[in-house]
Amino acid sequence: MVWLYTSQFSTPQSQVEIDQLVAGFAAENKRRNISGFLISDGRSVMQLLEGPEGDTEVLKGKIQADERHLNVTTQLWSNETIRAYPHWSLRAIASSEYEALFSEIESANFVTLATSIAQMLFDATFDP
Ligand SMILES: Cc1cc2nc3c(=O)[nH]c(=O)nc-3n(C[C@H](O)[C@H](O)[C@H](O)COP(=O)(O)O)c2cc1C
Repeated sequence: MVWLYTSQFSTPQSQVEIDQLVAGFAAENKRRNISGFLISDGRSVMQLLEGPEGDTEVLKGKIQADERHLNVTTQLWSNETIRAYPHWSLRAIASSEYEALFSEIESANFVTLATSIAQMLFDATFDP
């Protein structure tokens, strides 16, 4: 399954805090064969998660109930089988690095429906 959502941190996070959170999440994801990325500017979040149906659905429920962020809005929930991010348990990306991310996605030819939607939503999610 693929889940792409946007949300806002309940409390603004520094890049160091985000990197610490993501390191912990990545270790969990690795155990469950889940991959993806988390883009944040310290306030807004856009996260892509992809993995086996059961584990991805359980994690989706936990993240939706997590009070560390608000306004969790599903942008895509689909039974896509091609992964854009098979080699990343969870990659943290600062919103200022997004152009590099999307050009990397395009040049590696791993554009999927989820990465296309993420690119389209970028400007609406993060202030320029
Ligand atoms: C923005 C955000 C992203 C998260 N991403 C993940 C993730 O990719 N993997 C993960 O295991 N937990 C992630 N979590 C944490 C989960 O919401 C939850 O705390 C975690 O799965 C542990 O749940 P448990 O204590 O019920 O086992 C995220 C939380 C937030 C606020």
